[in-house]
Amino acid sequence: PAYQEQYRPQFHFSPIANWMNDPNGLFFHKGNYHLFYQYNPDSTIWGPMHWGHATSGDLVHWEHQAPALSPDAAGMIFSGSVVVDHQNTSGLGQNDQVPILAYYTAHRMDWEQDHRLDFQNQAMAFSLDDGLSWEKYNHGHPVLFNPGIKDFRDPKVFWHSPTQRWIMLLAAGDHIAIWNSGNGIDWDYCSDFYGPKLEADGVWECPDLLKMPVGNTQTYKYVLLVSVNAYGPFGGSATKYFVGDFDGRTFTSDQQNTLWVDYGKDNYAGVSWNNIPREDGRLLTIGWMNNWEYAQNTPTERWRSAMTVPKRLSLEKAANQYLLKSHPIEALKSLREEAIAVADVRLGHPAPQQQFFTNDLSGAFELSLTIMESDAQQFGLWLHNVQGDTFQVMYNASEQKIITDRSKAGTFFSREGFYSKPTFVEWPKRYPLKLHLLVDWSSVELFVQNGEKAMTNTFYPSTAITSITAFSHGGNSAFENIEVFPLKSIW
Ligand code: FRU
Repeated sequence: PAYQEQYRPQFHFSPIANWMNDPNGLFFHKGNYHLFYQYNPDSTIWGPMHWGHATSGDLVHWEHQAPALSPDAAGMIFSGSVVVDHQNTSGLGQNDQVPILAYYTAHRMDWEQDHRLDFQNQAMAFSLDDGLSWEKYNHGHPVLFNPGIKDFRDPKVFWHSPTQRWIMLLAAGDHIAIWNSGNGIDWDYCSDFYGPKLEADGVWECPDLLKMPVGNTQTYKYVLLVSVNAYGPFGGSATKYFVGDFDGRTFTSDQQNTLWVDYGKDNYAGVSWNNIPREDGRLLTIGWMNNWEYAQNTPTERWRSAMTVPKRLSLEKAANQYLLKSHPIEALKSLREEAIAVADVRLGHPAPQQQFFTNDLSGAFELSLTIMESDAQQFGLWLHNVQGDTFQVMYNASEQKIITDRSKAGTFFSREGFYSKPTFVEWPKRYPLKLHLLVDWSSVELFVQNGEKAMTNTFYPSTAITSITAFSHGGNSAFENIEVFPLKSIW
């Protein structure tokens, strides 16, 4: 069967071969979810960027399509977004065919003696066949020229109905620049958003601005996503968010602290699907499941990098603090084989641990459980394979942290210098505690308490995970509602 190479994700999107980074141009149209992605079709390392392309009817099973956009004289095709121009504001529609507009950064690299000069402008392509083939607008000449900033990229465009304008967000080094347009072709500058500069910060990339209801109310807030390369919570690249308001020209943030979309190492450049039908209303995202810190060195052979599972985002307000939650999309349940129920168990004295499976899991599965109560110092789970590679998920009660540790889960991240440090989220003791894990051949996505916190990590065990052990040290813990679903491959 296809896609059985070592480490190859079984229910995550990955390219057939070669290098992939950011998701691009996510949009839904006529029953299809489109996923474009930063792609180098000639190598397993980053290089001349194209937009790779895949489509899906359910966001679970993907069909690979031919690359949509290739580099030209204006440069490589960097990250960007796609919108459906329902009202034909661009005038590019023909014979009632609604034009679909793709915005990307044309990235030209020149060398002046020994130093590199980057030129980044925004260009556009359009499709008149529902997104299958693309023509560059004005032969790829930019529609929005760089005002003289080195990093000026990753256009995210959306329609703002109160002002009847298209809005474009751009990552501009240490801030987000907001522009708008009536026809999607001629762009006007609106404002800059810098955010509170609280700590060392990396280069801002891949913005998105999401209009979200607060809980089940009719009150809306805007959530600005900003991916930041370097100085993530555990090093390397990671995605921040700011909650605030947007009046059509300016984004203002309510908050003074730093919030992260994910507290693992491998969820980057995530943005949302455009054109989801209003009656559906879900806010759907997908992220690149890798980290610039080591992305070019990961030990896969034919292909490099996968996406996270598609996630639904929601926004809650509790104790005067906004919280962006992540949930695996419902449609993933279609991959479930019959549930394997595991009996409730109380671990600690005299039995501190119990192994649930003896190498009879297939390496791709979902696991959920509730810790009803605990007075242990540490409790958690070991996910392991025949060789004894072990990925640990643990609660440390004295530190009040939920911790993931991949340092003993295969050689790649345990090698010195390869970022074996655990990741964690602050978690004041509170029971019941619900953990939900999606485990694939080279990743673990952890959702804590129905998505209050998400932790996404890759790892490279010599063979896939086949056993689970629960443990409770320095006290007793009650593990209940333990359920395992083996997951079918999406390929
Ligand atoms: C983010 C990023 C973007 C850029 C693209 C280039 O990972 O650096 O800012 O458009 O990757 O591949």
